Amino acid sequence: MKATTNKLVIVGVGHVGSQVLATAVAHQIASEIALIDIEENRAIGEALDADHATPFDYNANINVHKGTYEDCADAKVIIMCAGPSILPGENLDRLVLAGRNAETVKDVMSQIVTYTKDAVVIFITNPLDITTYYAANHFGYPKGKLFGTGTTLETARLKRILADRYHVAPASVQAFMLGEHGNSAFPAWSMINIGGVPANQLDQYFDVESPLDKEAIGKEVVQVAYDVLNGKGWTNTGIAMGAVRLAKAVMFDERFVGPVSVTLAEEYGIAEKVSLSMPCVIGKNGVEKRLPLPLSPEEVSKFKTCAKTVRAVLDSIHI
Ligand code: 2OP
Repeated sequence: MKATTNKLVIVGVGHVGSQVLATAVAHQIASEIALIDIEENRAIGEALDADHATPFDYNANINVHKGTYEDCADAKVIIMCAGPSILPGENLDRLVLAGRNAETVKDVMSQIVTYTKDAVVIFITNPLDITTYYAANHFGYPKGKLFGTGTTLETARLKRILADRYHVAPASVQAFMLGEHGNSAFPAWSMINIGGVPANQLDQYFDVESPLDKEAIGKEVVQVAYDVLNGKGWTNTGIAMGAVRLAKAVMFDERFVGPVSVTLAEEYGIAEKVSLSMPCVIGKNGVEKRLPLPLSPEEVSKFKTCAKTVRAVLDSIHI
């Protein structure tokens, strides 16, 4: 077996982890992928199934196998998806998972740090900002090497909604959702543009059927997660694409800019100790640079609401 140069470990291969696997294989971001799950048979089955996807002639010869935490020792990226997801109708708030998933994070992080503090760890487990804060601040992991997917997914949802509204490709929409990965996330309208046309002028330049309602679009981005959940029972395709995009940025040292969840260092005058999403530069060391870009006073106030919401949950679970 050749020496691995870019190894990915996926922890938890349920609905989300198995989709992360499929996306990582399809996008060929790693030469070796190790799968860890508390249900060993599930990891074995997922690895075998993925093995059967790799012989097709457009695929690289990726070595996918069931792993153990020892696999973290030479991993470049670890994607953490373990822990139960929210269920349809479950109060429509990811924060209900905080107590349940804190224990899972403790088990997983205790294992990871036994073998590595070099790999970049990308968190998906909800409630994302709670699990990311806990993992980044209680296990001595190097700053910047552990971050959460955060509002990567809300940002994709916002781009999709704006692209549909203005009849353009979503990749042409420059936009960020910021703050909590959850109900208090908000669009940073002051940074949004399409082809350089700022948000307030979009209706003049592109074909529209109704005037831009910023408040309604912000709400729609948050609600659409529950529409997916209530429709299919879980969400996995969008988040898997988002997490793999970030993992690829690390593997290829791309210095990709996207909003991810990081522990705040009093940006925007926020005193609370929390993790929330802001645009960051992602490269081989994880978060290479944070970009606390200028926001309007209304947006700063929304950011502060996110911090209060997330801090209250962190306080309530005593971690
Ligand atoms: C999502 O936003 C539920 O956090 C999950 O798709």
